[in-house]
Formats: sequence, C-alpha cells, structure tokens
Amino acid sequence: MARAVENRSVADAEPDALSEAEATEELARLSGLLRAANTAYHTDDAPEISDAEYDRLKRRNLAIEARFPQLKRSDSPSDQVGAALAEGFSKVTHEVRMLSLENAFEAADVADFVDRVRKYLGLDGPLAFTAEPKIDGLSLSLRYEQGRLVQAATRGDGEVGENVTENARRIADIPQRLEGAPDVLEVRGEVYMSHADFQALNARQAERGGKTFANPRNAAAGSLRQLDANITAARPLKFFAYAWGALSAPLAEQQFAAIEKLASLGFKTNPLTRRFDTAEALLHHYAEIEAQRASLGYDIDGVVYKVDDLALQRRLGFRSTTPRWAIAHKFAAELAWTRLLAIDIQVGRTGALSPVARLQPVTVGGVVVSNATLHNEDYIQGRDSKGAPIREGKDIRVGDFVQVYRAGDVIPKIADVDLSQRPDDAQPFDFPTFCPECQSPALREEGDAVRRCSGGLICPAQAVERLRHFVSRAAFDIEGLGAKQVEAFFKDGWIATPADIFTLKARFGTGIQQLKNREGWGPKSAENLFDAIDEKRKIPLNRLIFALGIRHVGESSASLLATHYGSWAAFEAAMTGATIGEGPVWADLLSIDGVGAVLAASVVAAFQNPRERAAIDSLVAELEVQSVTARAPVDSPVAGKIVVFTGTLAKMTRAEAKARAESLGAKVAGSVSAKTDLLVAGPGAGSKAKAAEALGVEILDEDGWLALIGSA
Ligand code: IVH
Repeated sequence: MARAVENRSVADAEPDALSEAEATEELARLSGLLRAANTAYHTDDAPEISDAEYDRLKRRNLAIEARFPQLKRSDSPSDQVGAALAEGFSKVTHEVRMLSLENAFEAADVADFVDRVRKYLGLDGPLAFTAEPKIDGLSLSLRYEQGRLVQAATRGDGEVGENVTENARRIADIPQRLEGAPDVLEVRGEVYMSHADFQALNARQAERGGKTFANPRNAAAGSLRQLDANITAARPLKFFAYAWGALSAPLAEQQFAAIEKLASLGFKTNPLTRRFDTAEALLHHYAEIEAQRASLGYDIDGVVYKVDDLALQRRLGFRSTTPRWAIAHKFAAELAWTRLLAIDIQVGRTGALSPVARLQPVTVGGVVVSNATLHNEDYIQGRDSKGAPIREGKDIRVGDFVQVYRAGDVIPKIADVDLSQRPDDAQPFDFPTFCPECQSPALREEGDAVRRCSGGLICPAQAVERLRHFVSRAAFDIEGLGAKQVEAFFKDGWIATPADIFTLKARFGTGIQQLKNREGWGPKSAENLFDAIDEKRKIPLNRLIFALGIRHVGESSASLLATHYGSWAAFEAAMTGATIGEGPVWADLLSIDGVGAVLAASVVAAFQNPRERAAIDSLVAELEVQSVTARAPVDSPVAGKIVVFTGTLAKMTRAEAKARAESLGAKVAGSVSAKTDLLVAGPGAGSKAKAAEALGVEILDEDGWLALIGSA
C-alpha cells in the first residue's frame, strides 16, 4: 500500500487517499498554481488555464483543507476568493491630481509656449525654465508621512490610481524612510526599466516559456502592476523623481531647487536636468539630450520644460488635464520606407470612413509597423482640407513605395511617396461612396474632410465601435468585458446597444449555461462578469457623458460638461431644451470654458435625434448616475459664486483672473445679471459697474478681490 502511494503522483491522488505529508505538499503546489493563474488572469490579462481547470484546482484545495484543517495555509487560496484577488489592486484617490503634459513637436511650439506663459502672466522681465528628459515609463506617486513611505499609487485616470505600495517597497531606488522631509510629502516620478535589464528580463522569460515584453515601458508597467509583490521584487525597476503632489511644507521656491531637495532626501533625479533663461537655450539643451538619447541606457521620448519659479507656477495653474507651466517637447518622428500592399476602409464609431494602409512590415524606431493611417480621401489624393497640394500633389496608390513615420505613441502615418518606384500598373485609389459594412451611402458634408456612413445605428461597424468605446478604460471600464468580448457578444446578437449590457443578466442570467458554454468562459467568469457589470451601474456623470460616444466629446470635455451641470437631470434637461445657435440654454452651454460651438451643437443634436435619444434613455434607465461636483476647496470664500470681471486689472491678466476664480470654485460670467454675486471692477469699468449697482450686486476692486481670495 505504502509503495503504491509512492509510485503514483500526489497531484493525481484523490484527496481521501493522501497522507498528511502528501497533503502538505499538495496544498503548497495548489497555492502556487492558483496564485499564478490569478496573476495571469487579472494582471497580465493572459489566462494560462481554462476556467474549468481553475475551478477544479480550487475545489481540490478545499477538499484537502476540509480533510486536514490543521494544514490550511496562512495564504490559502480559499481565503482569497473573489474580492481581494478578483478586484486586483485597491484604489487610491490622489489628494492632488496627477496630470499629463501638453506636447510640443517643433521649435516653434516651444517659442509659442514661452510666449503664452509670458502673456498669461503679463511678464516682460526674465523668466527661467528647467529642462529635463521625459522618461518613457509609468508615473508613480509616493506618499511619505513623518518620513515613512505609507503609500504608492499609479496615475490611473489622474484622479484615482491603484495602490501598489507593497510593490513600490521592493524597488531599490525608492527610499523607505526620509530624514528631514516635510511631515507630508508626495514624491512623483517615473518607474522605468533600463535597456540592459529589459533585455535580460526578456531572455529569462523566453527561456522559461513566460511572457516577453514589447518594450521597456511595457515591461516596467507589467512588473510594477503585479498582485504578488515578490514578482515585482525580482524585476529590476528604477525610479526618477521629478515632481510632487501634496506637501505639508514647501520644498523650495524654485522647481530646480525643489528637485535638488528631492535628491538630497535620497531620490534619484535625472542628471540632465538644467535651468535656462531663454527658449534658445532650452532648444540647445534639447539637441544635446537628443544626441545622447541612444547611449543613455533607458528610453526617453522628449524633453520637459517647466517654469522654474514655483510662485509663477501657482499663478499659471492648470487647464483641465495639463499644467500651463510645463510642456513636453517630443523627439521627431522616426522614419522608414516600405511597400503599400493594400488600402482598407474602416468604419468608426461616428461613421467616419478611415482609410488604413496595409504595409509590408517594416521596423520604425524599434517597433514593427504593418498598418498606418491615411487620414481621409483628400490625403490619399495629395490635397489638404482646403484643397492645397501636399507631397507636391502626389497621390498614394496601392503598390507604391511609401515613407512611414511614428511620433511618440501615435498611430504610424504615411508621409511621402517615391514616384520613381511606382509600379507601371498602379491605379489611383477609388474612395468608396458607400459604407463597406452596411452599404448605406457614405456622404461628405461641406467643409468636412471625412466621408461618413449614413447608416447610424443600423451600421454594424458603428454599433460595434460604440460598444468598444463604451467599455473602454476611460468610459465604463467593465472588468472582463473588453473590446474583444463586446465584439463577440454583438456578433452573436446578445448586445446591440450599451443598454443591452445591463440587461444581459436578466436575459441570460438563469441560462448562464449559454455563456458558460462559450469558449474561455466558465461559471466563475460568467458570474464575475455579471457582478462586474452590476458594479458599474453606479457611474459618475463625467464617465457616462464620455461613454455615450458623441462626436467631438472627449474625456476632458465630458468632465467640463459634467462639472458645469452637476447632475444627469440638469444635463439632460439642458441638452433637451437647448436650441442650437440661440437662446439662454445654448449661451449657458457655450459659457463653459473649453466648450465651443461645434462640440455644443454635436451634443445637443445627439440628444435631439430620436433614435440616439431612445438609446440614451434606455441606458440611463439601467443606471444610477452619480453627480459631479467641481473640485473646489470647500473653504473657498467664492465657491459657487458667479463672478464678473470688468475694467483693467493691474496685477494679473484677465485669463489668469478667470482661471484662478474657477480653480476656487467660482463661475466666471461675461455679463452682469440678477444671478451675479460679485463684480470685480478695475479702472475704466463702465456699463457693467452701472448694471451691478442697479442690481445691488457687490462690487470689489482688484485688491479687494485678492484680499477676499487670500492672495493679496
Ligand atoms: S512632469 C504636472 N516630468 O510624462 C506635470 N513628467 O506626458 C507632471 N514624464 O504623466 C509631470 N518624464 O508620467 C514630468 N521629467 C518629467 C517626466 C514626466 C516623464 C511623464 C509623466 C506624465 C507624462 C505626461
């Protein structure tokens, strides 16, 4: 009997047949397997075992634990069901938002940036900037309290990131303790991987048959976002500090000095960080950094310029997602020549017919490219949107030898054609006038460069693209329901519009069997999916507006609309009641800084189109839309007030005054009405001051205003 047990594998034995020693061994094996399966599923998005096998391992683990309760491991997989593991990382709301940077691509954009900063501040005197490499990694915010590292969070959507504290503790460049730091200090910087470490990691992974990474940035992201911090510890991550978030006391009065302070606290800061007084000097440093790019040993994708004086940074403040005091000057695109094999037409979310170049694969700046955008039919024909020639009027034909380029993360583009290599039989491209997906006429409105399918929701391509957009990360971001899944569900006729996602369970819940029988789905994943969908029934207004996929409405304009209207009821009422081009509701919509007439008309038109409206209404009926409040400091004396500026301001430009008021939660209006709370009147104030007096509106001069907001 004893011999028999020795001869067969413990992994195959029935739980009842195991000895205590074998059970211990088997529980350890199962714990390892399940942990790896969780990581593959939740973190790498690359499941390695089927749901059925996962469930079998789970059940086996439980059965052995039931027989030998004393052997249950402290990290038992049965204690880690669902919640903790399924949800991955817990969420962290950043006390100070993590922003992104505006991009500059040419010297002229940099000069323009410097001019804009000067103009905004109304400044003629000297103005210094720092210049430092833009590291191509992922940003991380490290929170220290009383000198101890208490939290590390990824950027996420800028407002809410993932809690990766345990992982960050395993990165050698990140100090656990600081001497002489403010009580609260959030240090921000970039986690990255060196070229040498990246190559060694990929070689190790390949040898083990594990996942290899496409580039050092993906490797850094994949290594930091590990549910098992031991995996992070085994990956060679590095960190450069370049910014900060919440602070209990200032680090310094200048950007450059603040970075030196971070270095003195023990952080790695980039050795190519310098300070300059002119745009010319910034550009000169840019050229020097670019010349060293290949020999730095880590990826950078540009140079970041920041206003050095922190008091000026505060005055400049932020737009919706980027600071006015910084810009990223990206390196020029990388180029290569290859053959154009075909031109395909893709139909997008808004019906746009987009020509896509299928290319003979070619390496452009280290990445293999086989597709590129061709923009629109004019671009293919060698004309810009105004009819003027581009590429000296050369058109692009299938079979041509074309120049491909990439700039940063953007989709590769076609820059040029080599006519000397054009095949004799190459034909001009005939742009379709019917939608290739639903055969509806594809029309081009006057002034629009894009030809659009007129099929609306009956066009399957538009419907799928809308669904893909709807579940994307910045929209509903439903765990387990990505682009691939919505496409498959759409194809099978399970969902046609976003509302259908929320009725899936009611329609299929009891017959879970149907989902379960699909390839790659088991009872566990089906239930997880329904739970994940239910979780997103509560949705913040800004995400909902973005998710609707209305033309011209991006993530930041959706946020502007959400903060302006606050609630779904108010937003919906305004969009329903507005008349495009006239009336008070329209004027109110246009009063939002950052909302122009094109965007406004597009939103109003969507709400007033009966088919669109029906789709929106049935979606919202499934949801609980969370109101959004402006991120204003609660103790601001002007929060919620309607303020009007008039006359000449001496200490700030009008733009700065308006932005500052808005950052304190006030609404800035262009004219005085009974709703106005406050008029700030400089010298030369005329009719607005009179109107305010007549209406009994409080009037302050510039100093009075500055005293009120606490920055006199
Ligand atoms: S400053 C408020 N400095 O670039 C501005 N960002 O495109 C905070 N990045 O999200 C960013 N190197 O992840 C800054 N030297 C640098 C940087 C840098 C890389 C990243 C950062 C940011 C992204 C914006």
